[in-house]
Amino acid sequence: MEPATIILFGATGDLAKRKIYPALYNMFLDGKLPQPFSLIGLGRREWTDESFQANVEKSIKLFSRREPADPDTIMSFIGAFRYRVLDVGREEDYRKLLEQVEKRERELGIPQNRLFYLSVGPELFEPIALQIRGSGLGTSNGWKRLVIEKPFGHDLESARRLNQTLSQAFAEQEIYRIDHYLGKPIVQRLESLQQAHPAFYELWVDRQIANVQITANESVGVEERAGYYDHVGAIKDMFQNHMLQLLMMTAVHIPKDSGNGKGRSKKTKVMEALEPLQKETLRNRVIRGQYTEGVIKGDFAAGYKSEPGIAPNSMNDTFIAAKLQIANDDWRGVPFYLRTGKRLKEKSTRIVVEFQGASEPVGEESHSPNLLVLELSPKESITLQLHSRKQGRSETFQPIELDLGANPMNAPEAYENLIWDALRGDATFFAHWNEVELSWQWVTPILEAFAENEAPLLPYAAGTYGPAAADALLEADGFHWWFDDKLDREDRQDQNSDRKEGIRYAYHTNH
Ligand code: BG6
Repeated sequence: MEPATIILFGATGDLAKRKIYPALYNMFLDGKLPQPFSLIGLGRREWTDESFQANVEKSIKLFSRREPADPDTIMSFIGAFRYRVLDVGREEDYRKLLEQVEKRERELGIPQNRLFYLSVGPELFEPIALQIRGSGLGTSNGWKRLVIEKPFGHDLESARRLNQTLSQAFAEQEIYRIDHYLGKPIVQRLESLQQAHPAFYELWVDRQIANVQITANESVGVEERAGYYDHVGAIKDMFQNHMLQLLMMTAVHIPKDSGNGKGRSKKTKVMEALEPLQKETLRNRVIRGQYTEGVIKGDFAAGYKSEPGIAPNSMNDTFIAAKLQIANDDWRGVPFYLRTGKRLKEKSTRIVVEFQGASEPVGEESHSPNLLVLELSPKESITLQLHSRKQGRSETFQPIELDLGANPMNAPEAYENLIWDALRGDATFFAHWNEVELSWQWVTPILEAFAENEAPLLPYAAGTYGPAAADALLEADGFHWWFDDKLDREDRQDQNSDRKEGIRYAYHTNH
């Protein structure tokens, strides 16, 4: 990794505090930061280098996955941090910033490799990119890269406009669009799962899959983000980006002889093949919900409309489930069910691949399909559940589990993986413009249907799994969501009363 400078816009913000500094710190401990390394933080607040460094230290103490190290180690980490007050609209401030960047580069002997990290509100993306170009910050002898947080536009048109502006300052291969779901360790292992296990590759291509389920349920509500969330809803906050990225990552086929990172070029093909929905008919395929008051883990949870800052007559979606079809030779006829929502029973992010049933009945469990289960959060594991004959010559089949590897405790988090990749110039796990554009294009009829109330807004009580219509979406095809109601072990009285439930239970007790 070449020595480089990170120029961080939004250095006093929440994301920097919770994610970026702890990630950089852990990268530092793991020897994953460039040497030498320099970071210049920018914000509106009147901080000094010292108060900035003290804030970085505080954020490490509060949010790092590792205990803070000894004071000397912390000092040598935060010693690389400098702060500048910057008004994003003032040309003069960028000129001074350039002087400071160049001075630090000279002092530390760092070539002019600059990573501009925009951890700011989306309304600032375009002005900052243009100022980077205009000020000469972006015309160096080394490399330049732009790391940009979501949201990338708020609809197709605004995303296109944003991309066009950014491309005046940065080429596509210099733009690293963060979708932190792509940094999740289990998502990053999807590609190698097919490459390292040829059997999986065959399963993926050989019409063995009955359906794929992608869930990102959250128990938190709108939190302090009412002003933002009430304008975007689950569809823009989670579905257009994270959920469709998970779908692409799951649906790509990666031949074993292809090099690492080949999946990225194929993701666009998946999006191109995604069957478009029609605004008028999508109510059979898309379920929209909003939470009402309820109880989560014994605590009262207010309804969405009563949350501070939410319009009392808000028609915003806090839940969305959808059935998607990919019209290519690999996936034609295999439904992908996606769902995500807030104030649901528990936090669980997972991908379940349900295989076709056995062609011959195999005892009473013939209806219990084999499953590949990828737990992304809060647990991290990959498990294959197969059916095997019980010991002896029993006619009874029972589920067995093959553990394909859990993530080790305290492994690098998404932001560590992503920042490391950006510093190394590897864009595999970032969203390419083609994917972003196609995702916005695909959700446009849904956005229109929601805006025009073509799809009913279904209430669901906080602490449930969302509107019943989301279950009916699968039931209509003869399927059901896996692992919903069995997560709380205390809830279960009789573990073996039902074979099908037994499978779910076996899965959860082992993790
Ligand atoms: C963010 C959304 O992108 O992802 C949040 O804006 C959501 O609303 C979060 O809570 C979920 O991320 P994770 O990693 O906790 O599943």
